[in-house]
Amino acid sequence: MPPTREQAWETLTRYTKSESLLRHAVAVEASTRFYARKFGEDEELWSVVALLHDFDYEMHPTLDKHPQDGAPILREEGYPEEVVDAVLSHAEHLALPRDTPLNRTLFACDELSGFVHACALVRPTGLEGLEPKSVRKKLKQPSFAAGVNRDEVAQGAELLGLELDDHIRNVIAALQPIAGELGLRTAADAA
Ligand SMILES: [Fe+2]
Ligand SMILES: [Fe+2]
Repeated sequence: MPPTREQAWETLTRYTKSESLLRHAVAVEASTRFYARKFGEDEELWSVVALLHDFDYEMHPTLDKHPQDGAPILREEGYPEEVVDAVLSHAEHLALPRDTPLNRTLFACDELSGFVHACALVRPTGLEGLEPKSVRKKLKQPSFAAGVNRDEVAQGAELLGLELDDHIRNVIAALQPIAGELGLRTAADAA
């Protein structure tokens, strides 16, 4: 039986209590799933991988453990190698090949989803009306969301064969439906 989103959510929330990490997981999921739909890939499987990619971060917050020490736990929980491999591939320090659409997309969505989320958090209207141009401007300010690796953002768009603006636009569109879950103002709040 292929793993379900529900199962991944259950695993994630068993190991992760921090609201910001859970928001990161659902933001990366929304972006990754957006691309699954766009590419005609398995949305459920891509959701599972995105939700799980940092599932062990709370207990393994350092790169000598995350995500590699999470992998045996995922296997024990019955996730197939396809999921484990994809989760491992998001880590730059493991230098694994990003040789599948899923691996490439996960990597491309990881840093940028967090960055777009950060951009929306400092705007009164959230994601509404957020343009790629202003996201790019913020990318050039090293002090803004300093934890986001700018090189990885650029590399991600390249891996997807997209202009950075198009990738940013896609991520903004992907996050819009879950704005409420991300603690952002929603269209319903504005009404
Ligand atoms: Fe990670
Ligand atoms: Fe992540």
